[in-house]
Amino acid sequence: MQYIAKSTDLFSLKTSCLIVPVFAKKLDLTSASMINDAENQKISAILKLGDFQGNNGQTQIHYDFSCCNAQRVLLLGLGNKRDFSKKSFKTALSSLMTTLDDSKCRDFSVVLSDFAELDAYQSSREIILAINEIRYQFNQCKSLADDKTYALKKVTFITDDRKSQALAQKSITHTSAIANGISLAKDLSNLPGNICTPTYLADQAKSIARQYRKIKTTILEEKQMEKLGMGSFLSVSRGSRQPAKLITMEYKGGKVKDKPVVLVGKGLTFDAGGISLKPGAGMDEMKYDMCGSASVFGTITAAADMDLPINIVGIVPSSENMPDGDANKPGDIVTSMSGQTIEILNTDAEGRLILCDALTYAEKFNPAIVIDIATLTGACIIALGHQTNGLMANDDKLANDLLDAGETSGDRTWRLPLWDEYQSQLDSNFADIANIGGRGAGTITAACFLSRFTKKYKWAHLDIAGTAWKSGKEKGATGRPVTLLSQLLLKRARQV
Ligand code: BES
Ligand code: MN
Ligand code: ZN
Repeated sequence: MQYIAKSTDLFSLKTSCLIVPVFAKKLDLTSASMINDAENQKISAILKLGDFQGNNGQTQIHYDFSCCNAQRVLLLGLGNKRDFSKKSFKTALSSLMTTLDDSKCRDFSVVLSDFAELDAYQSSREIILAINEIRYQFNQCKSLADDKTYALKKVTFITDDRKSQALAQKSITHTSAIANGISLAKDLSNLPGNICTPTYLADQAKSIARQYRKIKTTILEEKQMEKLGMGSFLSVSRGSRQPAKLITMEYKGGKVKDKPVVLVGKGLTFDAGGISLKPGAGMDEMKYDMCGSASVFGTITAAADMDLPINIVGIVPSSENMPDGDANKPGDIVTSMSGQTIEILNTDAEGRLILCDALTYAEKFNPAIVIDIATLTGACIIALGHQTNGLMANDDKLANDLLDAGETSGDRTWRLPLWDEYQSQLDSNFADIANIGGRGAGTITAACFLSRFTKKYKWAHLDIAGTAWKSGKEKGATGRPVTLLSQLLLKRARQV
């Protein structure tokens, strides 16, 4: 889809379809009221007839508006102005796209100041993200179904003045990059475990380095990880026939001396649980146990597409977790790269075992901040459902920055405590630390485990177990939290 921003007169703009948003029964000071006046109160008359009342998502196409240079005028209901939210906006946009796809429209135009209190940056952003979401298809593994094609190819954002045009232009650049990042994350996540292996992810990282001049990829093989003492990470991969990979992608957009933002993504390409085998129902969804790493791929390419003037390092420990004669057994004790020994009481708590070595490895980049992103605990779904990312951090400023970025981007997080009182749940009789912390506060004790390896820098942990994908009829990756992370990076790079 092509997006352009234009400061132009609504009546002279040539377009195949002018979108005229209408709040329920109200014309206010929007383009709807301007057109209504120029067209002899026609929209008022339509509202009076009652067929179209501006209910959220309602659409109606007209071909007989002579005041403007549009082949069609599409009235788009936005519902009650009081109830207007990003969520209701998304519903309206999705119904708009359905209507447009039933027509032969090649383009549409829309006045950005029509959307209540959203400014030109925000409204264009919501539109681009919604279209990206609606248009996303994953057909790579179907033999027949080709990707659907659509007539609609171009969107024009009409702005009131130069200032809002510049805002919309900036938003187009940023949001297109983020939308591509989201789609990349979804593609990697939706691929099945037999295709998307650690080796596949490593190859993708290499191919990204070929596409982007400012990204350098390094892959560490098991031998090299052994030399570094990554006994915890390697113990998980021992039960798998797929070799583990430690993928590092360095984006160099800042000055050489600028400390990088380090993103560490859990890259479990399939989590069967290991010897602590998971129950069969729904186990296919454990191909999504690499969604954290997918969000790192998506965010780092988005940052490169936005050409952000900062340094970012993406680290992805990638492995399978399988039952096998050589797999971890409950009670096994392994030594992590940090030197701390770990008693593995449940082999299904493997995410923390691969992340802890990656988090120790992160020290070598002298990070400004480190954020890990992981589908770490089922308990997080119980605590926060599928709506909200779990957040835990050893630094209040970083935690608040992530909370803010969540509010602004709509990819919201909620902070859980990481108080010392929880640490003793990880006591082990035989090693420095156990890999599980009992029934209570499973999301927090998982973060407590990670916190033992992140003492040397400012760190936040995002548990995305509930948000990274949808189950049921709509099964598929969401691309979260690419939007959240991109928002944080934009802010740190002073671009918003
Ligand atoms: N990948 C899972 C967490 C998960 C489960 C994410 C379901 C999304 C949906 C993780 O490796 C895991 O198995 N965690 C265990 C930890 C437990 C053994 C302490 C869990 O949550 O049950
Ligand atoms: Mn597991
Ligand atoms: Zn897992």
